[in-house]
Amino acid sequence: MSNQLSSKAENTSSKSNAPITGDSDKKVFIKTYGCQMNVYDSQRMNDALAKDGYSETQDMEDADLILLNTCHIREKAAEKVYSELGRIRKLKEARSEGNRPVTLGVTGCVAQAEGQEIIRRERSVDLVVGPQTYHQIPQIVRRARDGEKVVQTEFAIEEKFETLPLASTKKIRSRGPTAFLTVQEGCDKFCTFCVVPYTRGAEVSRPVAQILEEAQKLIDSGVREITLLGQNVNAWHGLGHDEREWGLGELLRELDKIEGLDRLRYVTSHPRDMEQSLIDAHRDLKSLMPYLHLPVQAGSDRILKAMNRKHTAAEYIAMIRKIKEARPDIAMSGDFIVGFPGETDQDFEDTLQIVRDTEYAQAFSFKYSPRPGTPGAELEDQVPEDVKSERLQRLQALLNEQQYDFNKGLVGKTIDVLIEKRGKTEGQMIGRSPWLQSVILAGSEEDIGKIIPVKIVHAAPNSLNAEHISA
Ligand code: SAH
Ligand code: SF4
Ligand code: F3S
Repeated sequence: MSNQLSSKAENTSSKSNAPITGDSDKKVFIKTYGCQMNVYDSQRMNDALAKDGYSETQDMEDADLILLNTCHIREKAAEKVYSELGRIRKLKEARSEGNRPVTLGVTGCVAQAEGQEIIRRERSVDLVVGPQTYHQIPQIVRRARDGEKVVQTEFAIEEKFETLPLASTKKIRSRGPTAFLTVQEGCDKFCTFCVVPYTRGAEVSRPVAQILEEAQKLIDSGVREITLLGQNVNAWHGLGHDEREWGLGELLRELDKIEGLDRLRYVTSHPRDMEQSLIDAHRDLKSLMPYLHLPVQAGSDRILKAMNRKHTAAEYIAMIRKIKEARPDIAMSGDFIVGFPGETDQDFEDTLQIVRDTEYAQAFSFKYSPRPGTPGAELEDQVPEDVKSERLQRLQALLNEQQYDFNKGLVGKTIDVLIEKRGKTEGQMIGRSPWLQSVILAGSEEDIGKIIPVKIVHAAPNSLNAEHISA
């Protein structure tokens, strides 16, 4: 039975021979949590499943296969998954009566961290797949539809990228003019608060040729902006054409040569891996957008040490000065954790100070969440919840003020905007500034994918309004 099913499913890549099985036209709904790497992975899973006859749906109720692509970074992120699974169980039970059963799967970082435990807690889950084995997803889904409970949490990351199919041109077009491209996965840094080294495994870089092939396909399909992704993207060191190991700066230079690739970005970076060749790329490449997400997490040397970040606050500030010298219009972004174990009022003041010194255009900040299995969770002097909340509020007030100031600084200026999608109201479009702000302006869908100079006329805390420049 299982053999028959898999050979049948392998034949469904072309629609013409699929109807014999009655198994074509299946629909998949993927709900994505967490970081951009999960967004990218969800797309790649959709692309792999498309070859097995699954089309994407935005309506969970209409799906034959529901996948939750999960995040384990903070406790709340993981909890959300279980409450969503409880809701889906009811949908699954209702559908089990009819002839269109639902297959339910958990992928991503919760899948990797909890494995079998997910099925023990929620029996309605049919499959659990960690991020390194998405290339096996069509085959795993077939086994699950055959009645097997499948848990796959092995690390097979190189194989993943070699075998995952690229999306069709039509599909890439439907996703708009900006695209993500994962170049690096995993992390060897073991910051004491973080689950990523456990959920995504050791650092692996994709080779240059593979990345260029994917980038070219994206550009040929209408993409104008590519964001390179990695948990530690600036630690990327892949094999180049010359059999030498390249760094991210060299990779960016190569990508910059692709005709039609107008904008390049990369995220997320670690201050320790900001090599000179990467800073030089910011100085030299017009396509490399003047925006850098460089998380520091905390401003106190004591806390940075306890977090195992392996740099000081002064080194971070000096690094930013160097980057700003190379690219004066660069805008900084970052991540912060408040209430790491042992954080005193003075340590927190140091965090506020590093924020004042850096002047962020945008930043994300979180209360420390002890993660099982990480060294931070074992530390004794955990900070009380109310102290964390109060500190987070103060930090966010400062970061919001900086962000608003940065936005206001652009009023009256002419900047290039990449038009991405329709706005909320008729005749309104949304684009992206070089500094990643949303820009609202008049236009039509025909403008999507165009990069045009516009005049900023108004700044809000989270967006800008622009007017067209009359010729
Ligand atoms: N590789 C990136 C971070 C990836 S995780 C870096 O080195 O900076 C994204 C962000 O989640 C982190 O920057 C951190 O601010 C936050 N984060 C990670 N673990 C956390 C935890 N246990 N509690 C609260 N926030 C956390
Ligand atoms: Fe996590 Fe980033 Fe530290 Fe790696 S470098 S352990 S991903 S915070
Ligand atoms: Fe979350 Fe995993 Fe990304 S834990 S932040 S989805 S790497």
